[in-house]
Amino acid sequence: MRLLRASILAVLSLTAVFDTLANSTIGPVCSTKPPPGDLGKAQRAAFDDFIFLLTLSRNPQAAFDKYVPGVFSKSRQYIQHNPNALSGRENALNFLVPAWKDPAWSLYVLRQFVDKGHGITTSRASVNGTVISAVMDIFRFEGTCIVEHWDVVQAVTGNETNPIAFF
Ligand SMILES: *[C@@H]1O[C@H](CO)[C@@H](O)[C@H](O)[C@H]1NC(C)=O
Ligand SMILES: *[C@@H]1O[C@H](CO)[C@@H](O)[C@H](O)[C@H]1NC(C)=O
Ligand SMILES: *[C@@H]1O[C@H](CO)[C@@H](O)[C@H](O)[C@H]1NC(C)=O
Repeated sequence: MRLLRASILAVLSLTAVFDTLANSTIGPVCSTKPPPGDLGKAQRAAFDDFIFLLTLSRNPQAAFDKYVPGVFSKSRQYIQHNPNALSGRENALNFLVPAWKDPAWSLYVLRQFVDKGHGITTSRASVNGTVISAVMDIFRFEGTCIVEHWDVVQAVTGNETNPIAFF
């Protein structure tokens, strides 16, 4: 009984943690200065939270407020390499916020890891349940903040030669 009560409490407090993360009225939590201790571990925790907020929570505003706060030098504000976009936090949010509000659109992250100061995801993008593209995103960290982004997008047509194409 005591055990049951303890695990219910644990679930409740975990839910509260996820709620807080999902809403994120707490502003920037990252720092471009490396924190003391294990930087790789801090970057992995930051990346897990960033991708969770962006994809499962569908809340790019919260993800960017926490990890892309735009506090770097003016000349290097969130460097963007996607050929159809421009650098800058606001340009990214102007695309991502309405995109994530559209319920037809979804992104399923298949792989996610951090090494050598970069976070990488590979994902399956779908519209109304139909897979439309295979995506790889690469983000560069400074400290625990995300400062630069590259992506590669391959269209999925359904008539690929390779039976195990993309995934
Ligand atoms: C977070 O947002 C959800 C939905 O917008 C809301 O139901 C919930 O109460 C909020 N949680 C907190 C901790 O603000
Ligand atoms: C997705 O489904 C919605 C609702 O049925 C529809 O309005 C919309 O046009 C669809 N989008 C695409 C790209 O097929
Ligand atoms: C595959 O499908 C796409 C879109 O339907 C079409 O443009 C393309 O020509 C097709 N390729 C082959 C090799 O059939």
